[in-house]
Amino acid sequence: MNPIRLPALVSALCLALPLAMPSWAAALAPASDADPLRFLPERFETETHTVRLAGQDHEVRLHVYRHLPYVARPVDVAYQSLDVKVPVAIDGRAVDASAAPIVLDITVGGYHSVNNAQGGGAMGMMPPGMPPPGAEGGPPPMGQAGAPAVPAGEGRGGQRSFTGGNGSRVDLALLAGYVVVTPGARGWDNQSADGRYFGKAPAAIVDLKAAVRYVRHNAGRLPGNPQWIVSAGCSAGGGLSALLGASGNSPLYEAELRAVGAADAPDHVFASACYSPITDLEHADMSYEWMYQGVATRRVKVDETVSRELAAAFPAHQDSLGLQGRAGFGPVTGARLASYMLQTYTQPSATAYLRTLGQAEREAYLVANPWIRWDGQQASFSFADYTVHVGPKKGAPAFDSLTLGTPENRLFGTATVDARHFTPYSLRRASGQADAELEPGLRQLVDMMNPMYFVAQQHPGMAAHWWLRNGSSDSDNAQSVMINLATGLENRGRDVNAALFWDGGHCADDDPQGMVDWIAQITGYRRPGR
Ligand code: DHB
Repeated sequence: MNPIRLPALVSALCLALPLAMPSWAAALAPASDADPLRFLPERFETETHTVRLAGQDHEVRLHVYRHLPYVARPVDVAYQSLDVKVPVAIDGRAVDASAAPIVLDITVGGYHSVNNAQGGGAMGMMPPGMPPPGAEGGPPPMGQAGAPAVPAGEGRGGQRSFTGGNGSRVDLALLAGYVVVTPGARGWDNQSADGRYFGKAPAAIVDLKAAVRYVRHNAGRLPGNPQWIVSAGCSAGGGLSALLGASGNSPLYEAELRAVGAADAPDHVFASACYSPITDLEHADMSYEWMYQGVATRRVKVDETVSRELAAAFPAHQDSLGLQGRAGFGPVTGARLASYMLQTYTQPSATAYLRTLGQAEREAYLVANPWIRWDGQQASFSFADYTVHVGPKKGAPAFDSLTLGTPENRLFGTATVDARHFTPYSLRRASGQADAELEPGLRQLVDMMNPMYFVAQQHPGMAAHWWLRNGSSDSDNAQSVMINLATGLENRGRDVNAALFWDGGHCADDDPQGMVDWIAQITGYRRPGR
């Protein structure tokens, strides 16, 4: 039986038998009449996971708490509820996770809803009618471990992923003794019986903030240290992790949080891990064309005028960010961005990869990729050759589609309108009205979905620590989006660990244990007895 339905069953039984409530029914009664958001530590199921790390299997025994509503007035509790996993024994030895970091595992994909009652994880649960992976409006083809390898040098950037056979980062976090909280969340697809949409922006970020507040509200009851909440997600989930990390305690969301009955507690996070973040949505079209305009290996035909106009608008936007590069690079202007990306991220990523190869393998790779120069120590190449190698996958505009067909168009819909334009460029181009303006209120919604808005303002609630990763061949978004986020955060004094996985695709994670070790490093936490 689905435990989420238990309170309803218990209430029904109690109504039928008002004078004779059995003791077992009392034990299953709703959390607490006084506090609907109270976490009850004694109500768990037990599960055992086998987790592989460095060629060895480990047994992790967990207490699992499922389907806990994290708001007092849910719009739909199937989405606004979460699971908690607490390691209690590792390889047969008891562990105490009461002071451990808490990983908030954001499983949102495609800005789609995550149904916690049905097991969460939008990536594997697309609704009927959802376009197939890779198609407009559909989920992306994944670049994670197990994705089919594409030979290098074919304009698809290899799409390799290498985890060394290790477990997922969530399982590895449990093996390290951390608590993992996995929230459901509303998304653009949510529609009630009367046809109204109830998960359009900013619902997803409101829900994730409410989940963070729930964890803090239950400090001392819910295992783990709520001062060490670390959000993690990939793609749209990476974008939301970045937004959660950047917008901590912003009053902009307060009215929505109150409306759903979120706990009265802070919603900032200590650290944010973002993989292939799909974010900075209102600048994503121009960034994409700046990077890929005219690239011969583009996998779809685009309107060249649209592509050129968007690309031309980008440098002024980049200049306006006023970013300063690492290691004395100086201003990362539109004119200097490509060299900054190459020098700081892309070439070092190729170098690191080529150094892992044996000589024969490296020589074979270099023969297959003659555009890469190797001086015996370091890789170098031109930005243009690199973009040809990637082979961009999206059309133009990539996000605010002229036909309103993308997840982003639908994210910015309303209760009664499925999809809207959210950039003046696409609105004007699609309507043919050169002076058309975004609908009132939409500008603020777009800001509320953009971590760069908070970075630009030096928002005090921004997380202190950031782990940013992307596959070098991910073309779901321009590479500049994550790199600008990293640079903006560095310029505001945040601790940023950012890198590309060479030839990795969308959501690539070659180093899941790296994130787990990073959490140990920024918190100083070690599982007791280790
Ligand atoms: C995702 C991928 C996209 O290309 C996009 O535009 C939005 C979301 C995703 O994988 O979550």
